[in-house]
Amino acid sequence: MGSLEKQEISILITGAGGFLGQELAAALLDAEPTAHLILADVVRPKASFLQHAKRITIIEADLTSSEAVTSLLQPKLSACYLLHGIMSGGAEANLDLGLKVNLDSFRLILDNLRKSQPAVKVIFPSSLAIYGPSQPGQVTNEKTIPMPQSSYGAEKLIVETLINDFSRRGLIDGRICRLPTVIVRPGAPSAAASSFASGIVRESLKGERNILPVGQDLEMWVASPRTVVKNLVAIKDVPQTKFGAPQGRAVNLPGQTVTVRQILEALEEIGGKEKRNLVEEIKDANIEAIVGSWPARFDTSLARKLGMSEDVTLKDEVEFFAKTLVS
Ligand SMILES: NC(=O)c1ccc[n+]([C@@H]2O[C@H](COP(=O)([O-])OP(=O)(O)OC[C@H]3O[C@@H](n4cnc5c(N)ncnc54)[C@H](O)[C@@H]3O)[C@@H](O)[C@H]2O)c1
Repeated sequence: MGSLEKQEISILITGAGGFLGQELAAALLDAEPTAHLILADVVRPKASFLQHAKRITIIEADLTSSEAVTSLLQPKLSACYLLHGIMSGGAEANLDLGLKVNLDSFRLILDNLRKSQPAVKVIFPSSLAIYGPSQPGQVTNEKTIPMPQSSYGAEKLIVETLINDFSRRGLIDGRICRLPTVIVRPGAPSAAASSFASGIVRESLKGERNILPVGQDLEMWVASPRTVVKNLVAIKDVPQTKFGAPQGRAVNLPGQTVTVRQILEALEEIGGKEKRNLVEEIKDANIEAIVGSWPARFDTSLARKLGMSEDVTLKDEVEFFAKTLVS
């Protein structure tokens, strides 16, 4: 793969083989024509970047290994996107694995960065799962007290705290983005408790039967992959002075409140009744408890102040996703 020597900007993406990692890599290659990307994942990121072979370095590494982390962080970096992780359902099912990947590997990486790459920009995708259940009609913002109701949410919050503290000390320049649930996710279902929110659109549009494990009245805070990736790219260039006290380094990224019923309506509008009828409702109390504990209404005025983009409509996103299936 490519050489780092002549490049001025090097950006690391961990979890680069995952859903958002791959989309972010493609977006950064477009947005930063002189940047070199280091794409790291425990599984090899897909070959879709091969046309950019000179501008990328692919590294297969398990980031729970201290040797792997030290070697990965050797080149001088302009920014790091730390996207690797075990998703909410996976971290709930396997506490040890969640702690090892979602917490211990971040401690390793952040310690290494503060020593070897002082003041490097660190962008961390946190989640609405750091919050606890909200009262009906409550609007959540960055000042709402976090009270995670899942191990995944707790692990994200601990990493946020470390990033805030290292940034306060001037050791790194952390930017924490609390992401909505990102729909529509392409490919296979993920280990996220909210995986059904993409599945009811994706599998149905592909003509496959699928299961809805929650009630249709459940409200969710969602955003399209395009919006989330655009904002992850943009947050890197927000002046450092806009972060920090009093609001801290975390921002709730723009999204929209939708009920599951509205997702089904968007599916029917784009795919027709036949596709909508492929969704079978079979409740799963565990999934409903996790997703039901996440707030669904957010005040995103801080995101707007930082220049983050608003989301596209749900119908637009479902239509966009449907087109990717036929192209
Ligand atoms: N997708 C969403 O709706 C959403 C919402 C909120 C936050 N996030 C966060 O955004 C980030 C990316 O999410 P995603 O949907 O792309 O997840 P994903 O599961 O598609 O990708 C995660 C990647 O991390 C890699 N990984 C896991 N363990 C690893 C290890 N030990 N070493 C190296 N790599 C390892 C996996 O192989 C995978 O490719 C995650 O941190 C996630 O918590 C995502």
